[in-house]
Amino acid sequence: MRAPARRSRIRSSALAACAALLLGLAVAPAADAASPDRHRAATLDELARRHGRYFGSAVDNPELTDAAYAELLGREFGTTTPGNGMKWYATEPRRGVFDFTAGDEIVSYARAHHLKVRGHTLLWHSQLPGWLTSGTWTADELRAILKNHITQVVKHYRGKVFAWDVANEIMSEDGTYRENLFYRTLGPGYIADALRWARAADPKAKLYLNDYNVEDIGAKSDAYYTLIKRLKADGVPVDGFGMQAHLALQYGFPGRLPQNVQRFADLGVDVALTELDIRMALPADTAKLAQQADWYGRVTGACLAVKRCVGITVWGYSDRHSWIPSTFPGEGAALPWDENLRHKPAYDAIRQALTAA
Ligand code: G3I
Repeated sequence: MRAPARRSRIRSSALAACAALLLGLAVAPAADAASPDRHRAATLDELARRHGRYFGSAVDNPELTDAAYAELLGREFGTTTPGNGMKWYATEPRRGVFDFTAGDEIVSYARAHHLKVRGHTLLWHSQLPGWLTSGTWTADELRAILKNHITQVVKHYRGKVFAWDVANEIMSEDGTYRENLFYRTLGPGYIADALRWARAADPKAKLYLNDYNVEDIGAKSDAYYTLIKRLKADGVPVDGFGMQAHLALQYGFPGRLPQNVQRFADLGVDVALTELDIRMALPADTAKLAQQADWYGRVTGACLAVKRCVGITVWGYSDRHSWIPSTFPGEGAALPWDENLRHKPAYDAIRQALTAA
């Protein structure tokens, strides 16, 4: 009875070793596959940390059940951002009733894998709960609702979230304030209020304004430049500017990204690239992947060139899980790992930028 059991244990551990080896060959740089751990290639986050930066990836809760995906995320990256789990619809689905299930799941995953967590996001015009968007609020009511939301969420994650996207996407393309629920009811002062309430709830978390299409110098990034300058002059606690960096090959590279990052740093705030991905019209081909790789390398280099650019987060790391195909039909292939968790040229370009600098 005992011998066959032992043989089957040996057989299954041999099979497991083969499977692990095959998996390693699929997801690790070729030179690492059979190397002992101390000789493995440094991860992107380890390379970034040599420059005092972090390299992170967003994750959405359902992706944590994809074991291979979750394992690689935990191994390669230093930070993570919940893709949806800390948004208002998730955290306060009914007025005054808070649900931290999704956010907590990501925080405990992150703890188990030694990742730090960027909080996203306390205030946004999108993914608000129905009770909030369908209600009619006086300014006093809405101010109290916003204050309570920010206070409860930030307090809950105090010590667990190192930076918050306090206000997300509050500017329009032409540099005017976005006419969201809060602006319409409270006027532009809601931004300073939100930052102050967040600071009161967690004095240690870094507080960011965050938006897309602000990577280049233009009307929208100018508006943030002016706003942050004024907030700083008024003593409002703003610590960072997040450039989402959802780029697309067909729209061209934001050529003045380095100067733009520098001018925000010169205002005395940190800058982070918070949601980086670089999409393309499908199907992908060698030329597009090479151009994408070049762009990933340039974005990484632009961050490394400015001391106050503190880190880069990709919005998911693999084409297996990405928001793009459902939002932009016919586009995708935006991330440095492919659907099978294999490195794309973009991964090598990031690596090269992190090692060359
Ligand atoms: O929760 C429902 C689920 O009940 C339903 O069965 C399913 C069917 O489609 O939809 C689920 O909701 C989806 C939600 O993600 C949660 O998975 C929405 O349809 C989907 O639109 C939503 O997309 C998110 C998007 O924000 C919403 O604008 C993406 O996952 C998320 O990655 C994306 O992230 C944003 C950042 O927060 C801000 N910057 C832009 C970035 C990309 O859009």
